[in-house]
Amino acid sequence: MTQENSAGSVTPASREYPAEVATASGSEWWRSAVIYQIYPRSFADDSGDGIGDLPGITRRLPALAQLGVDAIWLSPFYTSPQRDAGYDVADYCDVDPLFGTLEDFAALENEAHSLGLKVIIDIVPNHSSSDHVWFQEALASPAGSAERCRYIFRDGTGASGELPPNNWESVFGGPAWTRTTDSDGTPGQWYLHIFDSTQPDLDWQNPWVREQFKDILRFWLDRGVDGFRVDVAHGMIKAEGLPDYTPPADSGSMGGGTVGLEPEIGDHTDGPTPPYWAQEGVHEIYRDWRKVLDGYEGDRVMVAEAWVEPLTKLANWVRPDEMHQAFNFSYLETSWAGPAVRRVIDTSLDAFTGVGAPSTWVLSNHDVVRHASRLALTAENPQGHGVGPASPGQPNPQLGLRRARAATALMLALPGSAYLYQGEELGLPEVIDLPDESREDPTWFRTNGERYGRDGCRVPIPWESDAASYGFSASGASWLPQPSDWAPLARDAQVGVSGSTLELYRSALAIRADHNLGLGDVQWLPGYGDSVVAFRNGDVTVIANTGDVAVELPVGDVLLTSAEIHEAALAPDCTVWLRTS
Ligand code: BGC
Repeated sequence: MTQENSAGSVTPASREYPAEVATASGSEWWRSAVIYQIYPRSFADDSGDGIGDLPGITRRLPALAQLGVDAIWLSPFYTSPQRDAGYDVADYCDVDPLFGTLEDFAALENEAHSLGLKVIIDIVPNHSSSDHVWFQEALASPAGSAERCRYIFRDGTGASGELPPNNWESVFGGPAWTRTTDSDGTPGQWYLHIFDSTQPDLDWQNPWVREQFKDILRFWLDRGVDGFRVDVAHGMIKAEGLPDYTPPADSGSMGGGTVGLEPEIGDHTDGPTPPYWAQEGVHEIYRDWRKVLDGYEGDRVMVAEAWVEPLTKLANWVRPDEMHQAFNFSYLETSWAGPAVRRVIDTSLDAFTGVGAPSTWVLSNHDVVRHASRLALTAENPQGHGVGPASPGQPNPQLGLRRARAATALMLALPGSAYLYQGEELGLPEVIDLPDESREDPTWFRTNGERYGRDGCRVPIPWESDAASYGFSASGASWLPQPSDWAPLARDAQVGVSGSTLELYRSALAIRADHNLGLGDVQWLPGYGDSVVAFRNGDVTVIANTGDVAVELPVGDVLLTSAEIHEAALAPDCTVWLRTS
């Protein structure tokens, strides 16, 4: 299809991003990779207990190779009491029986590698489970003992230590301290848990802790993993003296922001640094880890889950001797509005390129409202709070999906590395009306239901439209109930169906690879209104319309479109890729 351009020239106007990103050698696969997040408990269940497992993942991997991703990232599958869905690890070097065995992991990894997929696993160093033997030994040992020094134990304040050591709050709500009971039954010291009380924070000032984790990295590197997603990579070091701190009202749970109506979101400024996030001392840890990874053959990588703003500060996590990538949560939190989108793209490319790292892009994961719902919310929604039946600003599902498709098409045209979250390629929305009794997120319990939490984005995904639990589990079981209207979203209902969300993702990934967009650059195109995001990356022109009036398209062959195009006009909430000369 050829289009007339009255909107303006398609000649690139201004900036280019020369830099290291564009000159990456082919062996640095991560610079342009599309990485697919698997949330094991909700991906595919072979055992029939209603909780996904490693054999289920292995069986379904060919579908991901067909989708066209380069790598998978597995959320935790380690031994765990599952108080925070596996982010509470009781043994870092074993697989929880819920998910399988170490042999099952080896089989998964072999299958992934034979399909050409890299395998990244999650590592959770900020805290362990309270079931971990390290913590059990600490509890059984006296104050000041070597065992206690693995964690952050402190005496309480108040006349008899009855008050917590400081005023910090848990990310999941409630106090960040829990008091212990001594062996004689009297109240003892307090321990810090930035998350749930079953997730005590390790003391990373202690060299013993550092050595343990280097061994854990080696354990998995020896087993052939291609890298690690580092959980809470901004939290491991706490400010000296653990000073009191009260976060600003609008900060999201992890220190990020709020999504909703605010047009400038995604362009955060440098606020006060909380004493438990983004302390300078974390960088030494990653420099140390980088040396461990560099000692292995192949391109082993680390990606930081660090909710740090502004992006210029986040870039410190990906300096040449630290991590390879960091999740770009500023991008995720940007509202669907042209100026904010352009600004966050510019800021991201500048910040990451400045330290020689690729930018990353992400729209969904297991901690945020799925973008097929989030982009249509009409009220502010702090990260981690979730959406439930009584939340204000309920999204219109059609608008949400339309915007999500447009936003994804825009994201996959950007240079750098992109992260996808399982189910987004099916256009899954957040499940808003989960029954209260099925909710499992500790946030829900710790806030007495005031925050719904993250269960709505974690519902097991649909594979087959007419099978029990949509093919998620052979037994038809599902740890969270799946909506009754998901049959049309099941993978088998979308494969080969022109215009389906799955085919949109598949085409976008294929064209992205063919045109080498991941190693390209962004050249903004002039002549468009404020609500239009228009740029060239190599020989592909990308135009996204975030506004509410149609936009005339320039001349060019349509390579990809997130919604049907009529009469050479790009409708609101639509993104198109054109091949232009
Ligand atoms: C993970 C969350 C988890 C938290 C505590 C995060 O950032 O992504 O799912 O609850 O760390 O481990």
